Amino acid sequence: MKELRTRVAIVGAGPAGLLLGQLLERDGIDNIVMEHRSREYVERRVRAGVIEYGIANLIEEAGAGERMRRDGLVHHGVEFRFERNSYRVALSELADGRAITVYGQQEVVKDLVALRLERGSPIMFDTEVTALDGLASDAPSVQAQGPEGDVRIICDYVAGCDGSFGVSNRALPTSSVRRYERTYPFSWLGILAEAPPRTEELIYCRHANGFALYSMRSPTLSRLYLGVAPDERLENWSDGRIWEELNARLATDEMPEISQGPIVERGITAMRSIVIAPMRHGRLLLAGDAAHIVPPTGAKGMNLALADVRLLAQALVARLKEHDDSLLDSYSNTCLERVWRGEEFSNYMTQMLHPNPHDDFENGVQMARLRQAVTSREATTVLSRNYVDLNSL
Ligand code: DHB
Repeated sequence: MKELRTRVAIVGAGPAGLLLGQLLERDGIDNIVMEHRSREYVERRVRAGVIEYGIANLIEEAGAGERMRRDGLVHHGVEFRFERNSYRVALSELADGRAITVYGQQEVVKDLVALRLERGSPIMFDTEVTALDGLASDAPSVQAQGPEGDVRIICDYVAGCDGSFGVSNRALPTSSVRRYERTYPFSWLGILAEAPPRTEELIYCRHANGFALYSMRSPTLSRLYLGVAPDERLENWSDGRIWEELNARLATDEMPEISQGPIVERGITAMRSIVIAPMRHGRLLLAGDAAHIVPPTGAKGMNLALADVRLLAQALVARLKEHDDSLLDSYSNTCLERVWRGEEFSNYMTQMLHPNPHDDFENGVQMARLRQAVTSREATTVLSRNYVDLNSL
């Protein structure tokens, strides 16, 4: 078996693993990124597209922000829609001038992969990590199988950036790890359509039929979502039915119809909240979806993940360059405090915008919460600050 040596073995080439690799490399710390899937797959995986103010700055500081700054859409407000009325939330006015950038997660991944390849840093696609060994010792190692055969990577630390179904998750001892979990009784059906968005800002909509979200990727690409039953199947949704339902939910007197076009991508996403604590097990440090999942409402998943990595990179640099353990020792607690704020916000946005067909009391509470969110200056301010920059507050 081939043997390699590195300081940090990074499992997973999603946004978290790739950004961690980049931040460590800039501080002169060797690392190897391993990814189970192909490069094409990770670059095509469509996810949310809202980047917080502080996280956009982090991507730029890491040297990966050129295309995001050029092609990303900067938004200063967001719209809420219910009962055929629109309410604009002036995000930037209420959040000290900060704004969000609308730029697809897979574009961030493409930019980080390109940067890594340009620098010639090791990244192994189509490589499945089969075991994490010695996590409780000073000499952990990672075993993997890739296109060139089996490999063993001896390292100082392992970063688990491989999502909630990854090997890092399975390596956690059930006895000392707590898992907090909730599933929601709906899913999102998401489409990407070649249609110029009819709106300049995102629209979050609550309708008696369910949730809808109008988002975009560029002046010619719309990204739209419908809240559907949890076990809903894509086959049940013809293009005609999707557009009809989007129009029914999003319609107002000023915007009776949204613009339509060929649907170029579609998928159904289940909605869950998960927190795993602690985020460290010996020499294994978890970041992003490997440690926490949020429902998509509010687009916090990647932002939470990249904020983990911002701290993890600092902690590993302090440990490996200055023999200072303090940031690494507090990594889990520091992250979890922020992660729970992200969980709270995603849960709040989700609950407020998804009517429950079986619970009219719940629906009454949701409407009260939604009205308060758009009419009370205090509530709108909290919402704006969390929406725009939760992970850097
Ligand atoms: C998008 C996704 C979200 O979950 C969200 O809250 C806002 C925007 C998107 O894909 O553009």
